[in-house]
Amino acid sequence: MQQHVRIAPSILSADFAKLGDEVRAITAAGADYIHVDVMDGHFVPNLTIGPSVVKALRPHSALPFDVHLMIAPADPYIAEFANAGADIITVHPEAGPHLHRTIQLIKSHGKKAGVAINPATSLDVVDYLIDDVDLILIMSVNPGFGGQSFIKEAFTKIRAVRERIDQSGRAIDLEVDGGINDKTAGEAIAAGADVLVAGTATFSGGNNAYAGNIRRLRGESVARPGG
Ligand code: DX5
Ligand code: ZN
Repeated sequence: MQQHVRIAPSILSADFAKLGDEVRAITAAGADYIHVDVMDGHFVPNLTIGPSVVKALRPHSALPFDVHLMIAPADPYIAEFANAGADIITVHPEAGPHLHRTIQLIKSHGKKAGVAINPATSLDVVDYLIDDVDLILIMSVNPGFGGQSFIKEAFTKIRAVRERIDQSGRAIDLEVDGGINDKTAGEAIAAGADVLVAGTATFSGGNNAYAGNIRRLRGESVARPGG
């Protein structure tokens, strides 16, 4: 069943010079999850943050930390991210040879486990994991950078995952990540997504704009500042 829509701002688009303030501001603005994009310069061509930053941010928000690992291998770092305060840990199947083992490892730390599906990756990888995962993340851009355009084929995939989740009868989050704006947000929700990751669209216009940015992604009509 499609759950209520939640917005997961990606702190990749926040001001890294004041990340604690940014996390507090986006929490106060009505975010549901804090999405943390972890990149290793190897699995994806960009380097971002590690567990020590997650730990430093942890006291700044009571919201679930939704940690998206774009690193290979992922297994050696799961415990560190769990101990740093991650609530949901999502991995890509390409990051290691034993996805089922990685999912069990995440769960052994008492955390929710997610699988991220790249634009060219088939949904088959979740066929035998549907009873184990808590979140399926459909990438609507190639991972690595914020500010890219939504790849439309993701809608077909979101619809297909929605069917599989509904058949399972489990409350699995169907998250979409990349190129979410006021328009693609509505289309993704209509296709069956219930968690929207957004970096550029949430962290724009200064912190007084954040609450409006989030509400527009939920489909509420809120005027943009100055227009
Ligand atoms: C891309 C990341 C995304 C990214 C989204 O690799 O997984 O979370 O920050 O950024 P926008 O919303 O700007 O496309
Ligand atoms: Zn992400």
